[in-house]
Amino acid sequence: MSDSTLVTGIVELATGHPQPVENSSLKEGAQDGSLSVTRNAAFIVESGRIAWVGSAQLAPAADARVDLGDRAVIPGFVDSHAHLVFAGDRVTEFEARMTGTPYSAGGIRTTVAATRAADDELLRDNVRRLVDEMARQGTTTVECKTGYGLTVADEARAIRIAREECDTATFLGAHVVPAEFAERREEYVDLVRGPMLEACAPYADYVDVFCERGAFDETETRLILDAAKGHGLAVRLHANQLGHGPGVQLAVEYGAASADHCTYLADADIDALSGSSTVATLLPGVEFSTRSPYPGARRLIDAGATVAIATDCNPGSCYTSSMPFCIALAVREMRMSPAEGLLAATLGGARALGRTDIGYLAVGARADFAVLDAPSYLHLAYRPGVPLVSSTFKAGIRQ
Ligand code: NIG
Ligand code: FE
Repeated sequence: MSDSTLVTGIVELATGHPQPVENSSLKEGAQDGSLSVTRNAAFIVESGRIAWVGSAQLAPAADARVDLGDRAVIPGFVDSHAHLVFAGDRVTEFEARMTGTPYSAGGIRTTVAATRAADDELLRDNVRRLVDEMARQGTTTVECKTGYGLTVADEARAIRIAREECDTATFLGAHVVPAEFAERREEYVDLVRGPMLEACAPYADYVDVFCERGAFDETETRLILDAAKGHGLAVRLHANQLGHGPGVQLAVEYGAASADHCTYLADADIDALSGSSTVATLLPGVEFSTRSPYPGARRLIDAGATVAIATDCNPGSCYTSSMPFCIALAVREMRMSPAEGLLAATLGGARALGRTDIGYLAVGARADFAVLDAPSYLHLAYRPGVPLVSSTFKAGIRQ
């Protein structure tokens, strides 16, 4: 789009407000943001940002004009949890799971072997392919973790690729203890918090630890988080995915931007999340793909916690890149309202990444939006599995 472009042909504009707004036109209050729905809307994009938004009849003039042809528009999805730097797939593991084998963290090692054997170009191409697939489904911001290298050199190249190809890069050297350290886990933790962190921190925004039985325990998690904080990294945690545990409490104690999964929560975990700025990031594609019970989204929302939803796109526990699919799951399986689902996939994701410029469409926000071949955002959950995104724009540029 050239500078100052008026975007019209919007039958419905659905967008979150970063702050709750007292206004009768608001469709629904959800989490600590609100969804506003405007019929026959228009907005102006200038230098990649929203310069004006309102009713089409009141739109001021601009240098150029784009007509979206009577479609609904939503903010671009913020996918705040993905593992894209890997090689191969685990379709055989998926097949076994669907015929009765339970999911376990150990499957990660299969992808580690394939990833170590791959060259840089193959790994980069895989990330690009998935980011592109996400963009075609309305995603405009992607967080990407390492965690399938698990040597200093392999994690360092993974974090460099994540830094170059994605919006947010997260160091997850503590994904699982690799097979060669199986009998020496203390040594592996020392490697992660020492030389591996040293090599990766310059490229990373966040540190993450898979704090779970079968992965890393509380003591190990603390050692890694303390070291990462010393390198200036912000924290996010895989927490309470496979069972109850200390992950959520640790996330809140360390001021994590996000506690991810939150499938098994005690009342004290809900209290901790709702009394903090740590976002509860729910990944319902994982429960779908591992045939597990879904997280209690209603408990979290009703207690006042901020909730995000994300794909967790990875070759093991959930190989979807589709935020619309996750919204449909959130609505159908976790009893979130369609408005709460959209907010969690946009504004919630932005909060989970500590971003204030994305996840909504108002003056000053980055012009990240998705155009739907549908009359309303409600169709995202109403028509699951249907490719409704007709185009995606990032900073005003069509992807
Ligand atoms: O978020 N929980 C840890 N990491 C991924 C699973 C990765 C894998 O199975 O390869 C997750 O579910
Ligand atoms: Fe994950």
